[in-house]
Amino acid sequence: MRQDGMKFEKRILCIGAGFVGGPTAAMIACKCPRYRVTVVDTNRERIAQWNSATLPVYEPGLDEIVRKTRGRNLFFDTDIPKGIRESEIIFVCVNTPTKTFGAGAGLAADLQFWEKTARQILEHARSPKIVVEKSTFPVKTALAMERILNSRTGGIHFDVLSNPEFLAEGTAVRDMEFPDRVLIGSRDTEQGYRARDVLVALYANWVPRERIITSNIWSSELSKLAANLFLAQRVSTINAVSAICEKTEADVTEVSKIVGMDGRIGARFLNASIGFGGSCFRKDILNLVYLCRHEGLPEVADYFEAVVRINEYQKERFVLNMLEAMFNTLAGKRICLFGFAFKADTSDTRESPAIHVARRLLEEKAEVVVTDPRALDNAKADLRGLDGKIRFVQDPYRAAQGCQAIAVMTEWGLYRGLDYEKIYKRMVRPAFIFDGRNILDHRRCHAIGFNVYPLGRPALTHFK
Ligand code: NAD
Ligand code: UGA
Repeated sequence: MRQDGMKFEKRILCIGAGFVGGPTAAMIACKCPRYRVTVVDTNRERIAQWNSATLPVYEPGLDEIVRKTRGRNLFFDTDIPKGIRESEIIFVCVNTPTKTFGAGAGLAADLQFWEKTARQILEHARSPKIVVEKSTFPVKTALAMERILNSRTGGIHFDVLSNPEFLAEGTAVRDMEFPDRVLIGSRDTEQGYRARDVLVALYANWVPRERIITSNIWSSELSKLAANLFLAQRVSTINAVSAICEKTEADVTEVSKIVGMDGRIGARFLNASIGFGGSCFRKDILNLVYLCRHEGLPEVADYFEAVVRINEYQKERFVLNMLEAMFNTLAGKRICLFGFAFKADTSDTRESPAIHVARRLLEEKAEVVVTDPRALDNAKADLRGLDGKIRFVQDPYRAAQGCQAIAVMTEWGLYRGLDYEKIYKRMVRPAFIFDGRNILDHRRCHAIGFNVYPLGRPALTHFK
């Protein structure tokens, strides 16, 4: 008999203590004090970090809810078999990266992590479980999961549900607390509906019932991929528009505002940028591309793939614009990257466009100085082993010292409020700003003396 069996109504397990598993578990523990929530991971160091004062991920508001729940009804552990045995609902939150080997390399999802998890659940479970796909999986993964889990004749019954996560990094806590929608896909059977209702009841602890959407399991799996495709497509579209703006003296911020005021289009996700980053957009779109090719839909695959191709183009276009503006040579010039995270308010640098820019600048033999308020450790890891001169400096004023150019990579609010007069005085002339996020006051920077190259807007220079 479990010692705390009387104390907790339900036992929940999250397998995978990453950006999704940790915050998801913390939110459930916070909103459902009567549930015991455990997070397990094969990575011992990560679990140790979750149990320490410095969490492995930086997310505004996360420290607070972890502090409130850890040791009360939220636990981080490495004993996966015990976690499986003791739980009724298991959220699978493992990573699903793009495959780097064999068939589908570079496109398809690498499924080894979830399959290993499914086999572990099968091996250690002693009672029926609801297994929830929280990670983003290719469509029909639930079928494979069911087949593995129910492969023992006369064994325990497992229900598989799809409950994709829509949180964005930097706003994860708010997104989970007040989600636009929670999606739960189930099999269209009595058994499937029963399992679905258990998960609906869990979320109903804090999410209004009308925001909890139920669907068939394949629609749920596909909707997650489609949602990321739509979001990324908007970024690629406005980025493609930024390229034509630069040729025509139109201003992409004005175009984006005008287009976004159409209620049918909407204003969000129309900020031109140096390109989208993050661990998911690229991988999820390529996953869809692979699926379409596999299903004999090459035209659809090409259409989706163009979203990723434009993103690559935008990153490279940014570097080539810098090269051209700085008299077609960057060799020996010191350039400061303002920001390295793939977006503001996160320490995450996965697929950050800054990685491409830094690598390319080094290829051009420039010296690179990286500054970022949260992501310098990850930046160091990302650029380790590259040839050339790279420095990492926390303080943006010191980072810009002796540089010929600043390139804004991340839209950290901090960069808006800096004293650019002070920065200008410390830089080599002619001094350049390439604003890959259009966050700075371009006119003011120009008045100070900078040659300013915004994205998708006319440049402001002092050259005759
Ligand atoms: P992550 O890499 O940060 O975390 C995954 C964790 O799973 C790692 O700590 C890894 O050690 C662990 N793991 C892998 N195999 C395991 C196993 N067999 N047993 C136990 N632990 C195992 O990944 P993430 O960013 O949390 O993403 C997880 C999934 O969620 C992905 O499918 C992703 O597409 C999806 N997703 C991510 C986000 C996001 O913002 N990061 C948002 C929505 C959805
Ligand atoms: C994205 C989705 O927004 C989430 O709904 C989804 O759950 C998640 O992917 C996932 O599946 O992992 P995330 O990548 O954390 O979340 O962050 P976003 O806010 O979507 O930004 C992605 C990238 O697009 C960033 O590099 C951001 O700077 C860029 N972006 C975003 C733009 O360049 N312009 C915009 O207008 C918006």
